[in-house]
Amino acid sequence: MPSVFIKTYGCQMNERDSEAVAAQLVAKGYSLAPNEWVADVVLLNTCSVRDQAEQKAIGKMGNLIGQSKKSGRAPIFGFLGCMAQSRGRELIDSLPEVDLVLGTQKFHRAAEYLDSLLHGRARKVVDVEEESGSQGTIREHLAAAEGRKAVSAFVSIMQGCNQHCTFCIVPDTRGPERSRTIPEVVAECEQLVEQGVREITLLGQIVTSFGRREYPAVDGRSGFVQLLDAVHLIPGLERIRFTSPHPKGYGRDLVEAYGRLPKLVEHAHLPVQSGSNRILKLMHRGYTRERFLELVQELRSVKPDMGVTTDIIVGFPGETEAEFQETVDLCESVQFDQVYLFKYSPRRGTPAAEMENPVAEEVIEDRHQRLLTIINDIAMRRYEALVGKTQEILVEGPSRRNPARYEGRTRSNKIVVFDGSERQKGQVLTLKIERVGSFTLYGDPAIVGLDEPLVEVQAA
Ligand code: SAH
Ligand code: F3S
Repeated sequence: MPSVFIKTYGCQMNERDSEAVAAQLVAKGYSLAPNEWVADVVLLNTCSVRDQAEQKAIGKMGNLIGQSKKSGRAPIFGFLGCMAQSRGRELIDSLPEVDLVLGTQKFHRAAEYLDSLLHGRARKVVDVEEESGSQGTIREHLAAAEGRKAVSAFVSIMQGCNQHCTFCIVPDTRGPERSRTIPEVVAECEQLVEQGVREITLLGQIVTSFGRREYPAVDGRSGFVQLLDAVHLIPGLERIRFTSPHPKGYGRDLVEAYGRLPKLVEHAHLPVQSGSNRILKLMHRGYTRERFLELVQELRSVKPDMGVTTDIIVGFPGETEAEFQETVDLCESVQFDQVYLFKYSPRRGTPAAEMENPVAEEVIEDRHQRLLTIINDIAMRRYEALVGKTQEILVEGPSRRNPARYEGRTRSNKIVVFDGSERQKGQVLTLKIERVGSFTLYGDPAIVGLDEPLVEVQAA
């Protein structure tokens, strides 16, 4: 059977989609190639959120094609996901060696189309149609397909987004909001937990809008909170995470859920985008700076240790220096644990791309640099504040930075590296934080509740 290599660009939804495609192909007998140079099928799962992400994938494909010509190998090449969706056939027009272009509602057809291409039944396949029910098709998990155990798993709960932020291409590439049903999501989570998974991250472009039409509020609880309640009941599940929410989706019900549901970890990724009310309005974000600050307060009053992370865009059209300073000021008052900072990138077909007064590139660059220094300093201080304290971590496995050591995450989503063993994988441990690296904590197993050593060793 052929081997496949999938390279993923972009967000966790893309990671999850790639995993489901890989699992689907492994179940059909494919092997996973160790790299792109030896694979029979090379798939690039693409991101369109910024131009740079698109250019990276196009550059990579050009490079793959060039290398294959030199070596005389002729693998099947495919583009999947967001850029496949937004550019479609145009991708084959500019790169004729590409065989497959598969849109965001068609991942589950990958095996079938590759089969046609490999057996000569089709010369090229482009499928970027909408497909009703596609929100329920990202189901297969790679660890299960390979007979491995995983500690942490992602579960896709919905596709698309209706918010139409004026800078964002996602509503185009991912389509309108479509949610799975609560029983479907719960069944998938239960199965994962039976296979040994301890932590589940519920995924979607705007998860707080989950089931808005299908599940009207019950006792003031939104469809999303009803889903959290249902997943929380699964015995053996240790932790629940979700991403990405929208700040305006944090009603009282969701804030209270952090106090009610012990499995719901103390982490909120709250994409703020800007600290200026005028810019927030132009972005069509649906909240003000004041409401955002109030929300952070509400969450911290329920859980003082809440890890708060965010996304920020600098250089949105018309952003003045004073408005940029309002973003700086907001970062200083919130003290985020981590900020994903982006330079505004105009996207085809979005309202912001047509707006007046684009900010000059060198100004965007300068604001990006200045804010980056500030947010990194703040984050470093947030991490350093944990030195000497104990933290509960879920052990995920060998450390990605240093495979001789082990790593896990705190409930607030910080990576902790420590001297561990395979036996501890999947366990919840309490570690004492010893020191800090770049967005990494280093810890030592702690004996909690004892100030004195258990055994006094007497000198003979
Ligand atoms: N809710 C989605 C948003 C996807 S885009 C999610 O997080 O999954 C992720 C982040 O990319 C956004 O929060 C925003 O900060 C950034 N982004 C989106 N469009 C952008 C653009 N045109 N230019 C720069 N950054 C952008
Ligand atoms: Fe994009 Fe805004 Fe939705 S950032 S994914 S349109 S919430």
